[in-house]
Formats: sequence, C-alpha cells, structure tokens
Amino acid sequence: MTQYSTLTEELQKSQSTWLVTGVAGFIGSNLLETLLTLNQKVVGLDNFSTGHQYNLDEVKGLVPTEQWQNFSFVKGDICNIKDCHHACKDVQYVLHQAALGSVPRSIEDPALTNANNITGFLNILIAARDAGVKRFVYAASSSTYGDHPDLPKQEPNIGNPLSPYAVTKLVNELYADVFAKTYNFNTIGLRYFNIFGQRQDPYGAYAAVIPLWFASMLRGEDTFINGDGETSRDFCFIDNCVQANLLAATVQEEEATNQVYNVAYGERNTLNRLHELIRERVERSGAKQGESKLIYRDFRAGDVRHSLADISKANRLLKYTPAFSIEEGLDKAAEWYIANMA
Ligand SMILES: NC(=O)c1ccc[n+]([C@@H]2O[C@H](COP(=O)([O-])OP(=O)(O)OC[C@H]3O[C@@H](n4cnc5c(N)ncnc54)[C@H](O)[C@@H]3O)[C@@H](O)[C@H]2O)c1
Repeated sequence: MTQYSTLTEELQKSQSTWLVTGVAGFIGSNLLETLLTLNQKVVGLDNFSTGHQYNLDEVKGLVPTEQWQNFSFVKGDICNIKDCHHACKDVQYVLHQAALGSVPRSIEDPALTNANNITGFLNILIAARDAGVKRFVYAASSSTYGDHPDLPKQEPNIGNPLSPYAVTKLVNELYADVFAKTYNFNTIGLRYFNIFGQRQDPYGAYAAVIPLWFASMLRGEDTFINGDGETSRDFCFIDNCVQANLLAATVQEEEATNQVYNVAYGERNTLNRLHELIRERVERSGAKQGESKLIYRDFRAGDVRHSLADISKANRLLKYTPAFSIEEGLDKAAEWYIANMA
C-alpha cells in the first residue's frame, strides 16, 4: 500500500477545509475534483484570467451533489489582499496554483506576470499566515533551474533564470523560505515539470504543447515544433501532480517541511517522441478530421534545451510515487481531448 492510498483513506474519514487558488484552471480544477471526491471542504479562488467556468462545471458533473455542496467559490484576485483574506478564512490547507503561466507571455508582458506571480503570491502568503493555516503548498516551477547544466535536476542546484516567469517562480521560493524563518510559517514548494492532462487549455496564444497538439491534430491542422525536436522534457500526468500536492499538504515530519520538491515522472522525452505518441493516439481513435503536417520552425526564446527531474527527494520525504507514466497519462488525456474536441 502506498503512502498516498493510506492518505486518501484517512482523508475520507476526516474533513478539513482547503483553499485552492486558481481553482478554475487546469491543475486547480483537478485538485478540486480529487479533494471533493475525498469528502473534503474546498474554497476556490479565481479571477478567470486564464481559467474557465466550464472547468468548474465539468467537476460539478463528475462528483456527487452532496460532495459538490462542500465547494464554495470566491471570484476574486490574488492581487487584492482583501480577496485573499476572505478566501483564507477558516482554512487549514492552502494549495496555491493561481499565477500567470507561460514563458512567452512573461517575455511579452513582464509587469503583468510580476504583478500576478509576485505581488499576488505575497498577498496570499500574508493572508494564509494571518489565518494561521497549517500548511501552505504552492506551485513552483522547473523553470527555476534556468541555465544550470546538470541533468537530472536536483533541488539545490539552480542556475540563473532565463525568463521573467522564471524570476517570479524563484522569488516565490525566496518569500516562502523567508516566511518560514521569520514567522515560523509552514510551506512546501512543488517545482512542477510540464504537467499535462484533462482540462489543460488547448486554446489561446500561450497554450502548452500537449493540449495544442491534441487540438491541432484532431482538427486536421498543422503542428509546429520549435527547433529540431530534440529538445526534451519530463512530462508528468496531472494525477501525479495531485498526489504530490496532497502528500505535501499533510506530511508530518519536520524535515520534510519548508522545502521545495521536484514534481515530475522522472523520465525524459523529446518533442519528436511526444509528437509521435500523440499522433498514434489521435490516429488510433479515428476522430481525426483531416491530415495535419508537422512543421519545424525556429527555437523559442527563453526555453531550456533539456529538462529531467530527479524525484528522489519527493520520494524519500513525501513518499511521492508517480502512478502514471507518460504513455498512460497520454491515453487518459487523449480520451478527454477526443471527447471534448473531436
Ligand atoms: N502546467 C504546468 O505544466 C506547470 C508547470 C510549472 C508550474 N506551473 C504552475 O502551476 C500553477 C497552475 O498552472 P495551470 O497549468 O493550472 O495554469 P492555468 O492557467 O490553467 O491555471 C491558473 C489559474 O489561476 C487563475 N489566476 C491567474 N491569476 C490570478 C489572479 N491574479 N487571481 C486569481 N486567480 C488567478 C487563472 O484564472 C487560472 O484559473 C501556476 O502557478 C503555474 O505557474 C504549471
């Protein structure tokens, strides 16, 4: 029996109140779904800047009515400290996901990314501290490794940030650390590596590669690879990420808290291989609406060439054991994109 299955059994027996910020987004809505399924009370905060009401509606349709009634939604902005205080009231655990993602967006508008990801982060951190929450778990990022050449990435060995987005995620870690030392506050940062799965947004200029390729191939539109396709990433299915969040929120051992952890699967795949894996699934489904060509174009500014996580720290201290491989995760993601887009 894994630590996570023991935890989910325990959670079903005792109810706590969780705040999920960014609840209408990809990762937030998946956290919401799991927490409600486990009989937890959830307060969700979102300003719908990149999240959608239809993500919340989908979760509503997936959980029994009595569990959905354990959810209360605050439409608000982490840039507004009052909204943060309101959302943190009577909360035991915070899972902070709200931020503006995307390296290219941050290069185009660094001030906007800064306001949401640094000022907003500080606001929610202050509100969580003032509310006396038990644990503040936050979405950090693999972009913090920046230009550090080592592979696999180990938590202490970070380089210089390569984008404004990466700066904001590094600053989050610095603030969390200072709050732990200065206010005896209890935090854990999770450095996500390319999380993918159901409800990840395929639309908009800043869509991530997996949803973008599913959507394009299903519509029979061309797909693009930035660079030669040998750029590699540690793609990690959403259910693994949810597992890491719940373990991080509840871990008791003191040495495990006030730390940052890699959250990934621990395997490296090139974009060329990823493309192949998605193409196979789309073709197998028969849902494709035409031929799509694969076009190679220039490398993109701010992107790191290779990324692979060492997940041994999360495994050792949080008992994190990712249950879904990239292939298994893509099978599940394919089901969702086909049902929702084909
Ligand atoms: N998806 C990944 O692979 C990945 C990788 C590394 C880090 N992250 C981090 O994980 C978190 C969640 O990412 P996601 O992929 O679910 O993105 P997402 O865009 O789907 O979700 C972010 C949510 O936060 C909300 N939000 C943004 N700014 C807000 C604000 N000022 N006030 C209130 N709500 C706000 C958005 O409306 C959205 O619902 C982010 O912090 C992101 O930086 C994600």
